[in-house]
Amino acid sequence: MASSPTLLLLLFLLSLASVSSYSSSSSDAGDDKKKTTYIVQVQPDAKPSVFPTHQKWYESSLSALTNATLHPPAESNGGSRIIHTYSTIFHGFSARLSPSEAQSLRSLSHVLSLIPEQVRHLQTTRSPQFLGLRTSDSTGLLKESDFGSDLVIGVIDTGIWPEHKSFEDRDLGPVPSKWKGRCVAAKDFPASSCNRKLIGASFFCAGYESTNGKMNETTESRSPRDSDGHGTHTASIAAGRYVFPASTLGYARGVAAGMAPKARLAAYKVCWNSGCYDSDILAAFDAAVADGVDVISLSVGGVVVPYYLDAIAIGAFGASDAGVFVSASAGNGGPGGLSVTNVAPWVTTVGAGTIDRDFPADVKLGNGKIIPGMSVYGGPGLTPGRMYPLVYAGTTQGGGGGDGYSSSLCLEGSLDSNLVKGKIVLCDRGINSRAAKGDVVKKAGGFGMILANGVFDGEGLVADCHVLPATAIGASGGDKIRKYITEASKSPAVATIVFKGTRLGVRPAPVVASFSARGPNPETPEILKPDVIAPGLNILAAWPDRVGPSGIPSDKRRTEFNILSGTSMACPHVSGLAALLKAAHPEWSAAAIRSALMTTAYTVDNRGGGTMLDESTGNVSTFLDFGAGHVHPEKAMDPGLVYDISSYDYMDFLCNSNYTIKNIQMITRKTADCSRAKRAGHVGNLNYPSLSAVFQQYGKHKLSTHFIRTVTNVGDPNSAYHVAVRPPGGTTVTVQPEKLLFRRVGQKLSFLVRVQARAIKLSPGSSRMMTGSIVWSDGKHYVTSPLVVTMQQPL
Ligand SMILES: *[C@@H]1O[C@H](CO)[C@@H](O)[C@H](O)[C@H]1NC(C)=O
Ligand SMILES: *[C@@H]1O[C@H](CO)[C@@H](O)[C@H](O)[C@H]1NC(C)=O
Ligand SMILES: *[C@@H]1O[C@H](CO)[C@@H](O)[C@H](O)[C@H]1NC(C)=O
Ligand SMILES: *[C@@H]1O[C@H](CO)[C@@H](O)[C@H](O)[C@H]1NC(C)=O
Repeated sequence: MASSPTLLLLLFLLSLASVSSYSSSSSDAGDDKKKTTYIVQVQPDAKPSVFPTHQKWYESSLSALTNATLHPPAESNGGSRIIHTYSTIFHGFSARLSPSEAQSLRSLSHVLSLIPEQVRHLQTTRSPQFLGLRTSDSTGLLKESDFGSDLVIGVIDTGIWPEHKSFEDRDLGPVPSKWKGRCVAAKDFPASSCNRKLIGASFFCAGYESTNGKMNETTESRSPRDSDGHGTHTASIAAGRYVFPASTLGYARGVAAGMAPKARLAAYKVCWNSGCYDSDILAAFDAAVADGVDVISLSVGGVVVPYYLDAIAIGAFGASDAGVFVSASAGNGGPGGLSVTNVAPWVTTVGAGTIDRDFPADVKLGNGKIIPGMSVYGGPGLTPGRMYPLVYAGTTQGGGGGDGYSSSLCLEGSLDSNLVKGKIVLCDRGINSRAAKGDVVKKAGGFGMILANGVFDGEGLVADCHVLPATAIGASGGDKIRKYITEASKSPAVATIVFKGTRLGVRPAPVVASFSARGPNPETPEILKPDVIAPGLNILAAWPDRVGPSGIPSDKRRTEFNILSGTSMACPHVSGLAALLKAAHPEWSAAAIRSALMTTAYTVDNRGGGTMLDESTGNVSTFLDFGAGHVHPEKAMDPGLVYDISSYDYMDFLCNSNYTIKNIQMITRKTADCSRAKRAGHVGNLNYPSLSAVFQQYGKHKLSTHFIRTVTNVGDPNSAYHVAVRPPGGTTVTVQPEKLLFRRVGQKLSFLVRVQARAIKLSPGSSRMMTGSIVWSDGKHYVTSPLVVTMQQPL
């Protein structure tokens, strides 16, 4: 095959740079392009005794396939082709394989499966007070859990900025004795970076580099150090110390604190400039569980695939099986339905809501109209009282070959500086980051930017640390401004932005954030996802010294804290709360902790009584938007009853999902007995704290199903619970028995829920959802489960 000189030169440079050098031929390069990374699952007990370690066995399996002359075994990992070996929550390894090698491996009897690598992405404080966590009281979750002391939260993210005040270790006891993790030192990360707060730090880049080649160490750090900011932010939300005064560019002044201020942190860096690779993520799960973390926080996500092909679902199962609580972000793909990710039932899936604080920055137009906006811009502003010429970026002629589309989005090089110089520019959302648009306007000489949502984004507003005076407005506001610009032909269009600082006590709050990913669950509609929502909009948390608050490389401003939004920010709130709950109740399982968070969650906002609204429409939200509701930590500490789930229950669930025994083994590493499970019922019978029935309407008849649930008493030894049912519209729901009498703590009692529905008129392919609830109460606790009934008309 033809080889270009540049390619050969590149290979030469690479082999000079690496320790092991080998002479390469052009066929290597050609074949390497066809290679992809696979995570290879191996039957652990099949290792022949001649191999001293699993690693040696895996290497030998690989080299047996390899044609020595065509595939020299020298690759990045010191001569081994193995990217990672997995041994705690998964057995096997990852490697780059050509299609024929993958085929040969598949045929080996001890190879269970090959999972193709996927790339994931990050799903980018007043919240403790908003959540009702009180530090002054003598009782309460923070006190009873001793602020989460001695619990370890593993954060799988972009690494950490260890010198930040949020990670100081004053007044903390010694590192918990169960801890087996390491502080992996590197050039910019001395071993002394860890302390009694940040007890572990490591990084996983072999999967990333096997696909992308060696990283460029001027733009990213081959170390646990966070050169992005995301991981430092999420870690401090979960377990940052109290820091006062904290603010970003003068906004949101106050005390910054994580949810579990004394919990220990371990940072597992898996996300690099071009994303987070499954083979690295699985290695981080494997290490975190072996190290002894109690909670794993994962603000990373991507596509939804069957659980046995999903490295996050597989890693999370192993973690949950080892007693580790895993919370993951639901994703930022909202407000459309079926957008939720990280949906495995052993993961706690967290959506995002607003808190009662915002940063108003309104647009004032020349015609006197005010368009509400949101911003945390804190630099030199526009002159108060002065109006500036206003232009819509979509009507400027592209300078750098931009058509109307790319200029309306304010893409790099699309703005003609003759047309925007000295003006406020209206840009549309899409493709490039919100802050990057401001940078484009600034570089073209614009004085300010108004960033308008598209129809899909609706009215949800995200405040950003822009590099010039800028504000975000809703889709309807964008329409108004475009209309004003078009009609202002007699006198030119003018506007200004009025920055109003920080506003507290905002009502209504919480509101489900527009971007928060929604149900139904695309993989298993019978399991309601997300599970809960937590604060995820405009969250103040720690930020690295060396990264500007806008995240743009040219942004030279520095700030100790930054305000970010996303389900990425919601997830670590729940991770921190889970650590507090585990500290207060060491005997609770991961499922019990989630149950406590779900059954005590609330669905109303702070206006008193009304259901939470949806930021994208202004209409009321549903269980598909907020799951069981917004977390309420103080109530979660004392839920009365919990719905517990064991690994065997999850296996029954997988049997009832009609997964094959082999697919179930790929997730659980156990051989399932599905004949037993199938007798026990259906997917919806997993002992989940929410209930979801999906009826396919074939012909007109009565539809019915039942759920079996078991609750465990974690409240008073002697207690009597009565059920209250609110049936979804058009359904009949009965619960038997209607009364549960407990005699001791830890006692389990079961009940049966029957749901009957009548077929309704629906056009083919459409569906309708009705909602209700089941509440068990002893007069003191209210153990609430959402009940969702979906009628589907087949095509
Ligand atoms: C190795 O290379 C030889 C010669 O090109 C070829 O005939 C043989 O099939 C190759 N073996 C494998 C395992 O790919
Ligand atoms: C690494 O990145 C820097 C900054 O973007 C760039 O100047 C340099 O050429 C890059 N190096 C390589 C080897 O790509
Ligand atoms: C919001 O509610 C109104 C009134 O019920 C309804 O007409 C409208 O379609 C709803 N909007 C959306 C986007 O669902
Ligand atoms: C599994 O298969 C059975 C029998 O074909 C079917 O009734 C059931 O709906 C299937 N369950 C799922 C979750 O697909």
